[in-house]
Amino acid sequence: MQATQEPPLVRAARKERVERTPVWFMRQAGRVLPEYRQIRTSHSLLDICRQADLAATVTLQPVERFDVDAAIIFADIITPLLGVGLKVDIVEKVGPVLDEPIRSRADLARLRCLEPEQDLPAMLEALRLVRNALPDEKALIGFAGAPFTLATYLIEGGPSKNYTTTKSLMYSQPDFWHELMTRLSDMIAAYLLAQASAGAQVLQLFDSWVGWLSQRDYCEYVFPYTARIIKAAQTSGVPVIHFATGAGALNGAIMQAAPDVVGLDWRVPLDESWAALGDVAVQGNLDPAVLLAPADVVRDQTRDVMRRAAGRPGHIFNLGHGFLPQTPLDSIFQVIECVREWNGSVGS
Ligand code: CP3
Repeated sequence: MQATQEPPLVRAARKERVERTPVWFMRQAGRVLPEYRQIRTSHSLLDICRQADLAATVTLQPVERFDVDAAIIFADIITPLLGVGLKVDIVEKVGPVLDEPIRSRADLARLRCLEPEQDLPAMLEALRLVRNALPDEKALIGFAGAPFTLATYLIEGGPSKNYTTTKSLMYSQPDFWHELMTRLSDMIAAYLLAQASAGAQVLQLFDSWVGWLSQRDYCEYVFPYTARIIKAAQTSGVPVIHFATGAGALNGAIMQAAPDVVGLDWRVPLDESWAALGDVAVQGNLDPAVLLAPADVVRDQTRDVMRRAAGRPGHIFNLGHGFLPQTPLDSIFQVIECVREWNGSVGS
């Protein structure tokens, strides 16, 4: 047993009853904060990731500004790919771009094993710095991009609309696909375990683009890898959140992969989805675009999410995807205040 109680967000992820609904936001570090943009005037995103003190500062900024219940380590889904020496750039307002995509078995030689302590010392040091600086009641979240989402960037060479190159390779070269997914899964599992050792108390797997697959293809081409990664990450004792966008049709399969928490996007009603999922914690699921609406709409829709969660143990409040870059800070404060008022009004 630990001397101090785990943070409410970690306990909620374990479906324990907590004093108040924990709240944090995907993409809370960077993106919307002026203090982040200030640092970005003199440092690139990847510079920040390479300097542990800067990465720690940016990770802590949203906790200081919004008093959210968790910090998410500042990194990107491409961080482990950079760790193994792949040439990936992050292009402003575009996203990750590779000049030399991975599309054949020969290309796979460029995807060597990740040795987290040697390959990503700054990121692991940033986790340690943040954990030391965070109050005990705030959770530190580590994360990784899931193999399908990473594979789309590796194969397409950058962001894509329909993932057609990815899908056609998946169908036409299954050996290549399974070898790629195996290598990525080993990488991600090692990466998540290293983050837990360095102080992450919750781990989130982001499968941002897997909702573009049919249920059948998800089960054949992705599910075994997701399940394997989650199982490996859970050996750390840390709860694992699985988040995917547009994946309502995949929720049954995602449950089979046995994450501790299922992240719901905004398309699905939280109450109905939770009932269908069954015995698991859920995270979500306000539409990020609602934060661009007038305050009364923001408050109304935040309360609607809380009403649907109905105080059941195991709800972590979040958006249904990350903050949009143009989100006004005022809306973020409104959402947090509303979640906390709701908790106050229904008691605990
Ligand atoms: O709270 C946080 O934002 C923590 C750090 C974080 C970043 N990326 C830093 C970042 C996290 C959790 C991510 C995850 C990520 N990155 C995902 C999965 C989540 C999701 O949104 O679905 C994906 C698909 C990426 C890939 C990526 N990185 C894209 C598509 C972009 C460009 C678009 C944009 O502006 O977000 C990035 C760049 C990036 N990664 C930024 C940040 C703060 C913004 C640009 C910058 O500061 O230069």
